Amino acid sequence: MSENTEHMNLVIVGHVDHGKSTFIGRLLADTDSLPHGKLEQVKATCAANAKPFEYAFLLDALKDEQAQGITIDVARCFFKTKKRRYIIIDAPGHIEFLKNMVTGAARAEAALLLIDAKEGVRENSRRHGFLLSLLGIKQVVVLVNKMDLVNYDEAVFQSIVKEYSDYLAQINVKPITFVPIAAFHGENIIEPSAKMPWYKGNDVLTLIDEFKKEEDKEKQPFRMPVQDIYKFTEKNDDRRIVAGTVETGTISVGDTVVFYPSQKQSKILSIEGFNTPAKKSISSGRATGFTLDTQIYITPGEIMAKASEKAPEIGFEFKANLFWLGKKPMIYDKRYKLKLGSTRQHVYLKKIVSVLDASDLSSNATKTQIDRHDVAECIFQTTKPVAFDKTTDIESTSRFVIVDDYEISGGGIIIEAVQDSKSRIEDYIQNREFSWEKGKISAQTRVARLKQNPKFIVITGQEKIGKQDLAKALEERLFNDGRSVYYLGISNMLMGLGSDRLNKFEDRDVHIRKLGELAHMFTDAGLIVISTITNLDDQEAKILKLLNQPREMLVISIGENPLSDFPADFHLDTTQSMEERLKTVLDILKKKDVLFGEYSI
Ligand code: GTP
Ligand code: MG
Repeated sequence: MSENTEHMNLVIVGHVDHGKSTFIGRLLADTDSLPHGKLEQVKATCAANAKPFEYAFLLDALKDEQAQGITIDVARCFFKTKKRRYIIIDAPGHIEFLKNMVTGAARAEAALLLIDAKEGVRENSRRHGFLLSLLGIKQVVVLVNKMDLVNYDEAVFQSIVKEYSDYLAQINVKPITFVPIAAFHGENIIEPSAKMPWYKGNDVLTLIDEFKKEEDKEKQPFRMPVQDIYKFTEKNDDRRIVAGTVETGTISVGDTVVFYPSQKQSKILSIEGFNTPAKKSISSGRATGFTLDTQIYITPGEIMAKASEKAPEIGFEFKANLFWLGKKPMIYDKRYKLKLGSTRQHVYLKKIVSVLDASDLSSNATKTQIDRHDVAECIFQTTKPVAFDKTTDIESTSRFVIVDDYEISGGGIIIEAVQDSKSRIEDYIQNREFSWEKGKISAQTRVARLKQNPKFIVITGQEKIGKQDLAKALEERLFNDGRSVYYLGISNMLMGLGSDRLNKFEDRDVHIRKLGELAHMFTDAGLIVISTITNLDDQEAKILKLLNQPREMLVISIGENPLSDFPADFHLDTTQSMEERLKTVLDILKKKDVLFGEYSI
């Protein structure tokens, strides 16, 4: 059977008790989508317990069946028409709905928005309408439910149509249409209602089938957030597998790919499956792994794209629409965690452009924080460059989540990249330099007195390769030669990147920053500062260099650094003895004019 293989996700939203679950239950019953005998069974249970029957019970009964073994936090129901298959998502509350929408757990292409005819437009009717537009769901049909409670009166329907259309017009949402229904009684659900002959439009099911598919994800530019890099462990095999889930597009063996933000390039050598034979090409929605034909060092969190297609944006700043759910408000100068694709980054709120109260749409351009349930247009700033897409280009790689204190506290979509953006660090340094009160002794005077050019020496390499031993020996040697030198040993806390990446990443980021600050102070005082960092990566090196400006940093790596291709200034062989290593480093220091005057070393 090659019939309807097309899928569509629908979401149903509306104020509490306006009839979402009832509508879905009725729709499933009327389209024969329920397991045989389910409806009768639930009705019988209700009768036996002298409880009035509710279609919502049907969903609860189904949920128990469908949820076996999987945790779902939104009810998903399935039904199909001759045209296609549907997943209909009943979000239990708008907070959950938003969370799921912004995290991508429940991405919908079209929405049904329910309004109770008797109660009329309520706070959440407005809020949800606004959020649909914010989330970029453009296909919306508004269902005016419980028409039986208002005697199927056209005037009531028309007044709701008027009030709600006016509201939607303000936020640039144009619903496809409004339908008067009585979900409980099945009026206008799968066929025109005899109770409302004045309504000349289509029934809901017909309208659902008329929703258009969003542009196929497969046809969009290729994007795969890199989740992990696995190394083959077999002997003499140094290939790596770049793993992740393809969000959009299609890619084939032989295609040239670029990773963002690092912009490293390579070619797809093979597409590996998990317990499946290798493929020639692969498309959106699949979890997979690639081997590349050259060995490049990339890190989890990068976006893999195709060289021949539109590149993602890269930057330190982006403008976004944010919906804040956190108990604590979002404030300036606080560090939050950004989850965007597979990236985990620190992010700061840089500017609030405007804040909207989603229920009455009052806009406020003077707010200095973003409160719970506010929708804000704002600018975020990261410390490291981040790759993303604008929501109008590719939706899935524009969506992000903000974590505050280990809780998802907000979510949003990126509307544009900020041009000429600066990193948080650069901004900070500009401020620091500006407000740093300098003493009377100039840098040159210090250099002349101390007979050395201050330098921040970073020794890097894999774990347990002798970095600290070298650092301490170097300190001692220089000290005995009369130099002003200091071994800054705080980086012992910088572990390698292990499996528990998230927490270590937090520590690492903070420590790199601390290290850079301290080095800056010591080199400002004229010292030679020596420190060690396991597997220094490009970005960290950049941050340290920036923090240490205007003095220089010298990176010495021992052996190979498998996580980075950061060009160290000098490489030391792993086979060298300590004495040989020391000699090499001292020669470098002399050659680079770090040390001058007379040496005894
Ligand atoms: P939450 O999940 O709590 O947000 O509510 P909901 O929107 O899912 O509403 P639900 O479907 O549970 O319906 C709320 C109440 O309205 C139930 O008692 C339904 O039987 C009733 N109801 C739903 N549709 C109709 C209708 O068309 N006519 C009448 N009279 N009652 C209805
Ligand atoms: Mg419900």
